[in-house]
Amino acid sequence: MKRENVVGRANVEDTPELEAYYRSLEGESLGALWNVANEIEPYYPQPKSVPTLWKWSKVEPFVRRAAELVSAEKAARRVVMLVNPGRKEWSAAAGLLYTGVQVMNPGEFTSAHRHQASALRFVMEGRGAYTVVDGERMTLGARDFVLTPNGTWHDHGVEAEGSQCVWQDGLDIPLMNSLDANFYEVHPKVVQTPAPLSRENWSKPYSPVFLYKWDESYQKLKTEQTFEYRNPLTGGPVMPTMGARLELIRKETKPVRHTGSVIYQVATGRGWSEVGDQRFEWEEKDIFCVPSWTRYRHGAHGEAVLFSFNDFPAMRALGLYREE
Ligand SMILES: [Fe+2]
Repeated sequence: MKRENVVGRANVEDTPELEAYYRSLEGESLGALWNVANEIEPYYPQPKSVPTLWKWSKVEPFVRRAAELVSAEKAARRVVMLVNPGRKEWSAAAGLLYTGVQVMNPGEFTSAHRHQASALRFVMEGRGAYTVVDGERMTLGARDFVLTPNGTWHDHGVEAEGSQCVWQDGLDIPLMNSLDANFYEVHPKVVQTPAPLSRENWSKPYSPVFLYKWDESYQKLKTEQTFEYRNPLTGGPVMPTMGARLELIRKETKPVRHTGSVIYQVATGRGWSEVGDQRFEWEEKDIFCVPSWTRYRHGAHGEAVLFSFNDFPAMRALGLYREE
């Protein structure tokens, strides 16, 4: 028990009688709130996630090796997950966000499926990658950003004449599981038959644009410092639970902290970030996370672009977003 000598906070001394009482409560699936109150109602968020940097130089050999060890077909999704040391039981990279690096050889594909979790992808390298979302087929190049919103059928692969492709997947799987709201379905066909998708009277809760090409996004970023991937119909985030952006880093950014987690990937350049008590030196394709309510700032050696995704839309929808 975490006792606090503060009026309004739990501060109960243990006695032999109380200890016997606690043991008998446990046997009846009961408990004394005052034993855990100070822990489960902290003064401010106490994320279990820790600031973590995954250097691409360390991750890459494992990703390439996965392509040799396991077939894309048997793995269903051949991904090396980035697991936060404090969130292993949730397979989370930080807070309620999952991320992993997927690798696919020319001619390989994953079978079509859909899930309640929302997914996004930032392509790291390779030629010939494609994805099919609700029948619509899109070709992907390096640093393109693509959505597979919650509930959409999707499958993806690499053309036979392409090269080995690598991309970062981002999903809100831990959020869905913490809400006990996750579903998963396998498509009746192995892969979808591509067909045009109608956008008429679009009423879905996510962006009708699934693919955001790097060149276009980067052009806009150069004039605005921050480029938010948006749903063009609402001006809001691309999906109901997750948002994503590009940031152009030149000089040091101001320290900030907020509720909600962020997963970064270095799109271009080199630089550093201070996240909580950690300092990360990063370069292209490195991935790092910022846990909720952790103060951070970035700087670049020259100029750098950071891609990131976050759970701010979920936090805002629940009225939980706070920033300082
Ligand atoms: Fe999926």
